[in-house]
Amino acid sequence: MLATQYFAKDLFKGKTVFVTGGGSGINLGVAKNFAALGANVAICGRTQEKLDAAAAELRSFGTEVCVASADVRDSAALEAAFEKSRAEVGAMDVLVCGAAGNFLAPAEKLSPNGFKAVVDIDLLGSFNATHSAFEQLNETKGSILYISAGMAYMPHAFQVHVGAAKAGIDMMMKNIALEWGRFGIRANSIVPGPIEGTEGLKRLSDPAEKARLISAVPLRRTGTADDIGQVAAFLASPLASYMTGCVVVCDGGQNLPGSALFNTTAEQVLRAQQG
Ligand code: HXC
Ligand code: NAP
Repeated sequence: MLATQYFAKDLFKGKTVFVTGGGSGINLGVAKNFAALGANVAICGRTQEKLDAAAAELRSFGTEVCVASADVRDSAALEAAFEKSRAEVGAMDVLVCGAAGNFLAPAEKLSPNGFKAVVDIDLLGSFNATHSAFEQLNETKGSILYISAGMAYMPHAFQVHVGAAKAGIDMMMKNIALEWGRFGIRANSIVPGPIEGTEGLKRLSDPAEKARLISAVPLRRTGTADDIGQVAAFLASPLASYMTGCVVVCDGGQNLPGSALFNTTAEQVLRAQQG
């Protein structure tokens, strides 16, 4: 259900939202919710076909859309993407740092470069985007949303790289909120739970165990990309104008009982993946 069910349809009219990793999954869901509320949207990622397909979906909401190919690990490419989006759809009011990588790997088998790959995409990539967006956000008095994960505060099996990266993101968010409040820039994190139909859930869980996964979620369902898009719309809106430095968990309560189910099923998934 898009946020237009509950918010004024022109809530973000005249505003621009840039979503890193916006070509698929949760991030595309977030981008769609902003587009449905009137925002111009820019997305970046590494796969042109994915970005083009996403742009076509976003344009169906009748807003301006900019597509830029950029790897968030490459700050020069990101700077160029932000300049392109500024020229095509206007200065950024909202930056969503959503680009991420994930795979299951036992810590003792994960290579240093495997650890680095995820930290580079998630944490360093989010800093690169934050840093490069400063001038535009300072101009618009905008806000930043980081897409975190439960691994940031609850250890999950075979996720040492992701836990470190996402915990780093949440602490970085708090530092940015502390430092950039004086410019009128807000920063908050969203922690999605298991979101249906996403690459992340596919990589981390066994579809045959879906009933068990759901039984461990207090609200007894997986989330949707729109669940996250609605939280994003709220946090970026004037309704949340006094909220900064917050980690907002939207997971149906999944992390409340602990990560035991992920820990047991992940082993099975890993075994199947490794043949
Ligand atoms: C162990 C692995 C591995 C695996 C890669 N590596 N996959 N190690 N198990 N399955 C290691 C490689 O061997 C290499 O180390 C290093 O990681 C870099 O690999 P590359 O393939 O060169 O990396 P790159 O091309 O940069 O790709 C990054 C990636 C990839 C993260 C590895 O999977 C990716 O691009 N993912 C993007 C999409 C994605 O992951 N979406 C899900 C996000 S969900 P060596 O030592 O060999 O050089 C999420 C949270 C979900 O983040 C939470 C759900 C509840
Ligand atoms: P996804 O569809 O794979 O989203 C990740 C996006 O980031 C992809 O579009 C990917 O596109 C892009 N990306 C990856 N590496 C990049 C790089 N180096 N530079 C630029 N873009 C890059 O997976 P998802 O599951 O929807 O995850 C989206 C976000 O939600 C992530 O931050 C993830 O950690 C978070 N999350 C997901 C879940 C879940 O249940 N799925 C739960 C908690 C948190 P390219 O590969 O084409 O670049």
